Amino acid sequence: MNNPRRKRYLKALGIDVWRQRGATVAVAVDEPVEVTAEVVQEATQLRPVAAPKAAAAGAPRRQSPTPAMAEPVVVAAAIERPPVPADWEGLRAMVKDCTACKLCTTRTQTVFGVGHQTAPLMIVGEGPGADEDAQGEPFVGRAGKLLDEMLAAIGRSRNEPDAARAVFIANVVKCRPPGNRDPEADEVEACRPYLDRQIERVQPKLIVALGRVAAQRLLSTDAPLSRLRGPLYHYGPDKTPLLVTYHPAYLLRSPREKAKSWDDLKKIHRHLVQSA
Ligand code: URA
Ligand code: SF4
Repeated sequence: MNNPRRKRYLKALGIDVWRQRGATVAVAVDEPVEVTAEVVQEATQLRPVAAPKAAAAGAPRRQSPTPAMAEPVVVAAAIERPPVPADWEGLRAMVKDCTACKLCTTRTQTVFGVGHQTAPLMIVGEGPGADEDAQGEPFVGRAGKLLDEMLAAIGRSRNEPDAARAVFIANVVKCRPPGNRDPEADEVEACRPYLDRQIERVQPKLIVALGRVAAQRLLSTDAPLSRLRGPLYHYGPDKTPLLVTYHPAYLLRSPREKAKSWDDLKKIHRHLVQSA
Protein backbone atom coordinates (compact mmCIF):
# COMPACT_ATOMS: atom_id res chain seq x y z
CA MET A 1 0.00 0.00 0.00
CA ASN A 2 1.63 3.27 -0.90
CA ASN A 3 1.70 6.13 1.48
CA PRO A 4 0.07 9.00 -0.44
CA ARG A 5 -2.91 6.79 -1.22
CA ARG A 6 -3.29 5.70 2.35
CA LYS A 7 -2.97 9.26 3.53
CA ARG A 8 -5.63 10.37 1.08
CA TYR A 9 -8.05 7.81 2.37
CA LEU A 10 -7.30 8.55 5.99
CA LYS A 11 -7.75 12.21 5.24
CA ALA A 12 -11.09 11.42 3.66
CA LEU A 13 -12.01 9.59 6.85
CA GLY A 14 -10.73 12.44 8.98
CA ILE A 15 -8.52 10.21 11.14
CA ASP A 16 -4.99 8.99 11.49
CA VAL A 17 -5.49 5.38 12.41
CA TRP A 18 -2.02 4.45 11.26
CA ARG A 19 -0.35 6.50 13.95
CA GLN A 20 -2.94 5.75 16.62
CA ARG A 21 -2.62 2.03 16.22
CA GLY A 22 1.16 2.06 16.00
CA ALA A 23 2.59 -1.43 15.69
CA THR A 24 -0.77 -3.11 16.01
CA VAL A 25 -1.81 -2.49 12.41
CA ALA A 26 -1.68 -6.14 11.50
CA VAL A 27 -5.00 -7.89 12.09
CA ALA A 28 -5.06 -11.64 11.68
CA VAL A 29 -7.50 -12.87 9.07
CA ASP A 30 -10.07 -14.95 10.92
CA GLU A 31 -10.43 -18.62 10.38
CA PRO A 32 -12.89 -19.26 7.57
CA VAL A 33 -16.43 -19.74 8.81
CA GLU A 34 -18.60 -22.01 6.78
CA VAL A 35 -21.69 -19.88 6.29
CA THR A 36 -22.64 -20.36 2.70
CA ALA A 37 -25.47 -18.91 0.72
CA GLU A 38 -26.04 -22.10 -1.18
CA VAL A 39 -29.34 -22.84 0.46
CA VAL A 40 -30.68 -19.54 -0.73
CA GLN A 41 -29.20 -20.15 -4.13
CA GLU A 42 -30.84 -23.50 -4.41
CA ALA A 43 -34.12 -22.02 -3.35
CA THR A 44 -33.86 -19.43 -6.09
CA GLN A 45 -32.85 -21.60 -9.02
CA LEU A 46 -34.62 -20.50 -12.13
CA ARG A 47 -35.83 -24.02 -12.82
CA PRO A 48 -37.59 -26.33 -10.43
CA VAL A 49 -35.03 -28.49 -8.65
CA ALA A 50 -35.33 -32.16 -9.64
CA ALA A 51 -36.39 -34.58 -6.92
CA PRO A 52 -33.40 -36.35 -5.39
CA LYS A 53 -32.53 -39.69 -7.00
CA ALA A 54 -32.18 -41.29 -3.56
CA ALA A 55 -35.97 -41.33 -3.42
CA ALA A 56 -35.89 -44.36 -5.72
CA ALA A 57 -34.00 -46.44 -3.17
CA GLY A 58 -37.00 -47.51 -1.14
CA ALA A 59 -37.85 -44.13 0.30
CA PRO A 60 -41.42 -42.97 -0.18
CA ARG A 61 -41.86 -40.56 -3.06
CA ARG A 62 -42.21 -36.99 -2.00
CA GLN A 63 -45.39 -35.29 -3.02
CA SER A 64 -44.84 -32.22 -5.13
CA PRO A 65 -46.67 -29.18 -3.82
CA THR A 66 -50.24 -28.94 -5.00
CA PRO A 67 -51.07 -25.90 -7.15
CA ALA A 68 -53.04 -24.54 -4.21
CA MET A 69 -49.92 -24.56 -2.04
CA ALA A 70 -47.66 -22.91 -4.56
CA GLU A 71 -47.50 -19.17 -5.05
CA PRO A 72 -48.77 -18.84 -8.60
CA VAL A 73 -47.08 -15.58 -9.53
CA VAL A 74 -43.63 -16.62 -8.36
CA VAL A 75 -43.88 -20.05 -9.95
CA ALA A 76 -45.03 -18.63 -13.26
CA ALA A 77 -42.20 -16.10 -13.29
CA ALA A 78 -39.65 -18.79 -12.44
CA ILE A 79 -40.78 -21.06 -15.24
CA GLU A 80 -41.12 -18.39 -17.91
CA ARG A 81 -37.87 -16.60 -17.25
CA PRO A 82 -35.26 -17.48 -19.86
CA PRO A 83 -31.91 -18.80 -18.73
CA VAL A 84 -29.31 -16.22 -17.81
CA PRO A 85 -26.66 -16.09 -20.54
CA ALA A 86 -23.28 -17.48 -19.63
CA ASP A 87 -21.37 -14.88 -21.62
CA TRP A 88 -20.72 -11.38 -20.39
CA GLU A 89 -22.27 -9.43 -23.27
CA GLY A 90 -25.34 -11.66 -23.30
CA LEU A 91 -25.70 -11.13 -19.58
CA ARG A 92 -25.31 -7.38 -19.95
CA ALA A 93 -27.96 -7.31 -22.67
CA MET A 94 -30.38 -9.34 -20.59
CA VAL A 95 -29.96 -7.12 -17.54
CA LYS A 96 -30.43 -4.00 -19.67
CA ASP A 97 -33.97 -4.98 -20.62
CA CYS A 98 -34.85 -6.93 -17.50
CA THR A 99 -38.40 -6.74 -16.17
CA ALA A 100 -38.15 -9.58 -13.67
CA CYS A 101 -39.13 -7.48 -10.67
CA LYS A 102 -41.13 -4.36 -9.94
CA LEU A 103 -38.05 -2.13 -9.78
CA CYS A 104 -38.11 -2.12 -13.58
CA THR A 105 -41.15 0.16 -13.48
CA THR A 106 -39.42 3.00 -11.63
CA ARG A 107 -35.81 2.87 -12.83
CA THR A 108 -34.32 5.20 -15.42
CA GLN A 109 -31.87 2.51 -16.48
CA THR A 110 -30.29 -0.62 -15.10
CA VAL A 111 -26.89 -0.40 -13.43
CA PHE A 112 -24.99 -3.51 -14.49
CA GLY A 113 -21.68 -2.95 -12.74
CA VAL A 114 -18.29 -1.51 -13.54
CA GLY A 115 -14.70 -2.63 -13.56
CA HIS A 116 -12.55 -5.45 -14.74
CA GLN A 117 -14.10 -8.73 -15.85
CA THR A 118 -11.41 -10.78 -14.11
CA ALA A 119 -10.86 -8.64 -11.03
CA PRO A 120 -9.60 -10.35 -7.87
CA LEU A 121 -11.83 -8.07 -5.78
CA MET A 122 -15.57 -7.76 -6.22
CA ILE A 123 -17.46 -5.11 -4.29
CA VAL A 124 -21.18 -5.68 -3.82
CA GLY A 125 -23.38 -2.81 -2.68
CA GLU A 126 -27.04 -2.52 -1.98
CA GLY A 127 -28.53 -0.90 -5.03
CA PRO A 128 -28.29 2.13 -7.28
CA GLY A 129 -29.23 5.53 -5.87
CA ALA A 130 -30.38 8.59 -7.80
CA ASP A 131 -26.94 9.38 -9.23
CA GLU A 132 -26.34 5.79 -10.28
CA ASP A 133 -29.81 5.53 -11.82
CA ALA A 134 -29.06 8.67 -13.85
CA GLN A 135 -25.55 7.67 -14.93
CA GLY A 136 -25.88 3.90 -15.24
CA GLU A 137 -22.80 3.23 -13.12
CA PRO A 138 -22.62 2.04 -9.51
CA PHE A 139 -21.25 4.20 -6.72
CA VAL A 140 -20.88 7.50 -8.56
CA GLY A 141 -22.46 9.70 -5.87
CA ARG A 142 -20.98 10.92 -2.60
CA ALA A 143 -20.71 7.43 -1.11
CA GLY A 144 -19.07 6.35 -4.35
CA LYS A 145 -16.37 8.97 -3.96
CA LEU A 146 -15.57 7.61 -0.51
CA LEU A 147 -15.59 4.06 -1.88
CA ASP A 148 -13.05 5.17 -4.49
CA GLU A 149 -10.86 6.56 -1.70
CA MET A 150 -11.21 3.34 0.26
CA LEU A 151 -10.13 1.35 -2.78
CA ALA A 152 -7.28 3.74 -3.54
CA ALA A 153 -6.05 3.25 0.03
CA ILE A 154 -5.44 -0.41 -0.78
CA GLY A 155 -4.01 0.32 -4.22
CA ARG A 156 -7.09 -0.46 -6.27
CA SER A 157 -9.53 1.35 -8.50
CA ARG A 158 -12.51 0.73 -10.73
CA ASN A 159 -10.46 2.00 -13.69
CA GLU A 160 -7.35 -0.01 -12.96
CA PRO A 161 -6.07 -1.50 -16.23
CA ASP A 162 -3.79 -3.97 -14.40
CA ALA A 163 -6.00 -7.02 -13.85
CA ALA A 164 -4.08 -7.99 -10.72
CA ARG A 165 -5.18 -4.82 -8.93
CA ALA A 166 -8.55 -4.44 -10.56
CA VAL A 167 -11.98 -4.28 -8.97
CA PHE A 168 -15.44 -5.12 -10.15
CA ILE A 169 -18.27 -3.18 -8.51
CA ALA A 170 -21.90 -4.31 -8.54
CA ASN A 171 -25.03 -4.27 -6.40
CA VAL A 172 -27.48 -6.88 -5.16
CA VAL A 173 -30.13 -5.20 -7.30
CA LYS A 174 -29.40 -3.60 -10.64
CA CYS A 175 -32.28 -1.11 -10.52
CA ARG A 176 -32.83 1.77 -8.13
CA PRO A 177 -35.36 1.15 -5.37
CA PRO A 178 -37.72 4.16 -5.38
CA GLY A 179 -36.90 6.80 -2.78
CA ASN A 180 -33.72 4.85 -1.98
CA ARG A 181 -35.60 2.38 0.18
CA ASP A 182 -33.92 -0.95 0.95
CA PRO A 183 -34.35 -3.46 -1.85
CA GLU A 184 -36.98 -6.01 -0.84
CA ALA A 185 -36.27 -9.72 -0.52
CA ASP A 186 -38.22 -10.66 -3.67
CA GLU A 187 -36.35 -8.02 -5.69
CA VAL A 188 -32.98 -9.27 -4.51
CA GLU A 189 -33.95 -12.86 -5.29
CA ALA A 190 -35.19 -11.87 -8.76
CA CYS A 191 -31.87 -10.14 -9.42
CA ARG A 192 -29.62 -12.72 -7.77
CA PRO A 193 -29.06 -14.85 -10.90
CA TYR A 194 -27.37 -11.84 -12.51
CA LEU A 195 -25.06 -11.22 -9.58
CA ASP A 196 -24.32 -14.92 -9.33
CA ARG A 197 -23.43 -15.04 -13.01
CA GLN A 198 -21.21 -11.99 -12.59
CA ILE A 199 -19.41 -13.73 -9.72
CA GLU A 200 -19.10 -16.89 -11.80
CA ARG A 201 -17.56 -14.97 -14.70
CA VAL A 202 -15.29 -12.66 -12.71
CA GLN A 203 -14.18 -15.39 -10.29
CA PRO A 204 -12.99 -12.92 -7.69
CA LYS A 205 -10.61 -14.01 -4.95
CA LEU A 206 -12.73 -12.00 -2.54
CA ILE A 207 -16.21 -10.53 -2.43
CA VAL A 208 -16.73 -7.57 -0.13
CA ALA A 209 -20.33 -6.94 0.86
CA LEU A 210 -20.83 -3.27 1.63
CA GLY A 211 -23.23 -2.58 4.43
CA ARG A 212 -26.03 -4.36 6.23
CA VAL A 213 -28.45 -4.87 3.36
CA ALA A 214 -25.95 -6.42 0.93
CA ALA A 215 -24.45 -8.55 3.69
CA GLN A 216 -27.78 -9.80 5.01
CA ARG A 217 -29.03 -10.66 1.54
CA LEU A 218 -25.84 -12.39 0.44
CA LEU A 219 -25.51 -14.39 3.64
CA SER A 220 -29.23 -14.95 4.07
CA THR A 221 -29.38 -13.71 7.62
CA ASP A 222 -30.98 -10.99 9.75
CA ALA A 223 -27.90 -10.55 11.91
CA PRO A 224 -26.81 -6.95 12.48
CA LEU A 225 -23.78 -5.63 10.63
CA SER A 226 -21.78 -5.48 13.85
CA ARG A 227 -22.05 -9.28 14.03
CA LEU A 228 -21.49 -9.88 10.33
CA ARG A 229 -18.25 -7.93 10.18
CA GLY A 230 -15.21 -10.01 11.01
CA PRO A 231 -15.50 -13.62 9.90
CA LEU A 232 -14.52 -14.83 6.47
CA TYR A 233 -17.57 -16.37 4.80
CA HIS A 234 -17.92 -18.35 1.61
CA TYR A 235 -20.51 -17.53 -1.03
CA GLY A 236 -22.12 -19.68 -3.68
CA PRO A 237 -21.12 -22.86 -5.48
CA ASP A 238 -17.54 -21.66 -5.93
CA LYS A 239 -17.35 -20.88 -2.20
CA THR A 240 -15.90 -17.48 -2.98
CA PRO A 241 -14.41 -15.91 0.16
CA LEU A 242 -16.56 -13.03 1.38
CA LEU A 243 -15.98 -10.29 3.93
CA VAL A 244 -18.44 -7.74 5.21
CA THR A 245 -17.66 -4.12 5.92
CA TYR A 246 -19.42 -0.80 6.43
CA HIS A 247 -21.18 0.92 3.57
CA PRO A 248 -19.44 4.20 2.69
CA ALA A 249 -22.76 6.05 3.01
CA TYR A 250 -22.95 4.81 6.59
CA LEU A 251 -19.38 5.94 7.20
CA LEU A 252 -20.28 9.41 6.00
CA ARG A 253 -23.02 9.50 8.66
CA SER A 254 -21.18 7.65 11.44
CA PRO A 255 -17.59 8.83 11.72
CA ARG A 256 -17.13 6.71 14.86
CA GLU A 257 -16.88 3.58 12.74
CA LYS A 258 -14.17 4.87 10.45
CA ALA A 259 -11.28 3.33 12.36
CA LYS A 260 -12.97 -0.07 12.15
CA SER A 261 -13.50 0.46 8.45
CA TRP A 262 -9.80 1.01 8.08
CA ASP A 263 -9.14 -2.25 9.96
CA ASP A 264 -11.43 -3.99 7.47
CA LEU A 265 -9.61 -2.48 4.52
CA LYS A 266 -6.29 -3.74 5.79
CA LYS A 267 -7.79 -7.18 6.21
CA ILE A 268 -9.19 -7.06 2.66
CA HIS A 269 -5.80 -6.00 1.36
CA ARG A 270 -4.03 -8.80 3.22
CA HIS A 271 -6.48 -11.40 1.98
CA LEU A 272 -5.91 -10.28 -1.61
CA VAL A 273 -2.15 -10.27 -1.24
CA GLN A 274 -2.22 -13.73 0.29
CA SER A 275 -4.49 -15.16 -2.41
CA ALA A 276 -2.71 -13.51 -5.37
N1 URA B 1 -25.07 2.73 -2.74
C1 URA B 1 -25.02 1.43 -3.14
O1 URA B 1 -25.20 0.52 -2.34
N2 URA B 1 -24.78 1.19 -4.42
C2 URA B 1 -24.57 2.14 -5.31
O2 URA B 1 -24.34 1.81 -6.47
C3 URA B 1 -24.61 3.48 -4.89
C4 URA B 1 -24.86 3.74 -3.59
FE1 SF4 C 1 -34.38 -7.09 -13.26
FE2 SF4 C 1 -32.75 -6.86 -11.18
FE3 SF4 C 1 -33.83 -4.69 -12.25
FE4 SF4 C 1 -35.35 -6.36 -10.86
S1 SF4 C 1 -33.64 -5.15 -10.05
S2 SF4 C 1 -35.84 -5.45 -12.87
S3 SF4 C 1 -34.43 -8.34 -11.39
S4 SF4 C 1 -32.38 -6.08 -13.25
